[in-house]
Amino acid sequence: KPQAIIFDLDGVITDTAHLHFLAWRQVADEIGIVIDEVFNDSLKGISRGESLQRILHHGGKAGAFSPEACAQLAERKNRLYVHSLRQLTVNSVLPGIRELLMTLREERIPVGLASVSRNAPAILQALNLSSCFDFCADAALITRSKPDPEIFLAACAGLGVDPQQCIGIEDAQAGIDAINACGMLSVGIGKGLNGADLLLPATEFLTWPCLSAFWQHDK
Ligand code: G6P
Ligand code: MG
Repeated sequence: KPQAIIFDLDGVITDTAHLHFLAWRQVADEIGIVIDEVFNDSLKGISRGESLQRILHHGGKAGAFSPEACAQLAERKNRLYVHSLRQLTVNSVLPGIRELLMTLREERIPVGLASVSRNAPAILQALNLSSCFDFCADAALITRSKPDPEIFLAACAGLGVDPQQCIGIEDAQAGIDAINACGMLSVGIGKGLNGADLLLPATEFLTWPCLSAFWQHDK
């Protein structure tokens, strides 16, 4: 058995990746920058401040805003995003995830969260999933976004497990790179992820029998 399974949040547990996109699209639009879902893929797993810098760069406006103006734009995005989180309910958990978390409890496999979102605790609460996680790495204590492995290493440290004996689950390229960088086995959800040790098209395929067979085959 793996020593622990560590989950990303946005796009793996629930579809907040889309809500992040809608909030950023509005803020970008207000400063004359157009972003689409394809560009948004490059923001997944990237912290709020760094996401803004990438958007400004994308729109040819890198350096056009003072640090104070950037802080205000990031704050505006977060207010829009937090407002949109009101639509989350216990039914917003992606298919198969709640069942998987319950099975991991039965199998006594520790479960961790590695999200660089400062809104992660509130989201788990809205989904009524807080009690399914043994340790959530604190995004406020992280200095480097994915693809740096820092947040996954923090989750492993909090659980007291060896990264090399764990599985990480991600929907973003930066996240897969972060998992691989700390020697965990990586599971990717979705299309077009490079380097995932196991790639599944959607969360409904993410079951304990599937993860268990993958672990026994790849370890
Ligand atoms: C996750 C999401 C990113 C988001 C980041 C920070 O990594 O994939 O899209 O920018 O969290 O989220 P926050 O809620 O703190 O702005
Ligand atoms: Mg994600």
